[in-house]
Amino acid sequence: MESLQQAREWLEAASAVVALTGAGVSAESGIPTFRGSGGLWRQYRPEDLATPEAFARDPKVLWEWYDWRRGLIAKAAPNAGHYSLAGLEKRKSSFVLVTQNVDGLHDRAGSRNVLKLHGDIWHLRCTTCGVEHRDERTPLPELPPRCDCGGMLRPGVVWFGEALPMNVWNDAERAARSADVCLVVGTSSVVYPAAGLTPLAKRAGARVIEVNLEETAFSAQADCSLRGKAGEILPELIR
Ligand code: OAD
Repeated sequence: MESLQQAREWLEAASAVVALTGAGVSAESGIPTFRGSGGLWRQYRPEDLATPEAFARDPKVLWEWYDWRRGLIAKAAPNAGHYSLAGLEKRKSSFVLVTQNVDGLHDRAGSRNVLKLHGDIWHLRCTTCGVEHRDERTPLPELPPRCDCGGMLRPGVVWFGEALPMNVWNDAERAARSADVCLVVGTSSVVYPAAGLTPLAKRAGARVIEVNLEETAFSAQADCSLRGKAGEILPELIR
């Protein structure tokens, strides 16, 4: 296991960097994670709230949960971890930020090259005509919300059992394969296919630097595992 100083050197020397982020990067902004203490999946069951079957069964209940989360996210602000990653992007000739988060905080911190594997909570997609649009109102005036065509809208996120957006996934794989350094931040590394990007980057020759409060499913394979809060470690790592 290498030190923070070694990780800094790898990052400094890298021209191509891919960062994979998860819920932990937004935890210090007050947005609950999914697993671990205080995690949403401790309180709710994913099969009740994050599957197409749950939406078909009771769209209103599901929308109430998403409307509540949209309200939380609207009040939150990016933290030092988000800003550090946005700063790193400016210094690298190739930088791709792949996130599992749907909260949009990386965009708000100034990151530009962001691939959202699990969609965007501010996007609404029509279940009838398929048109997707952005709507930042919170709370939404009507649940479930309706499209101009009359169809029911769903959140523009990826649920369990659904495929990731193909072009986004292809771009993420390409970035992982060509990275000199892969930063993996605030993710439990248990949800696939997203979690597969880190081993892919490593097999292709990248150094993997993990930043997490706890040990994860990937820690043993990381070249460097930094324990602590993303909002504290990332500013130290990316100076
Ligand atoms: P998880 O909730 O599974 O994991 C969050 C990770 O962040 C854990 O490993 C924590 O130890 C770590 N963590 C918490 N606070 C942190 C902090 N301040 N700094 C650094 N690390 C911290 O979240 P994800 O891995 O993002 O998918 O979950 C992946 C997917 O599972 C989500 O995108 C979502 C969820 O179900 C869908 O809904 C499809």
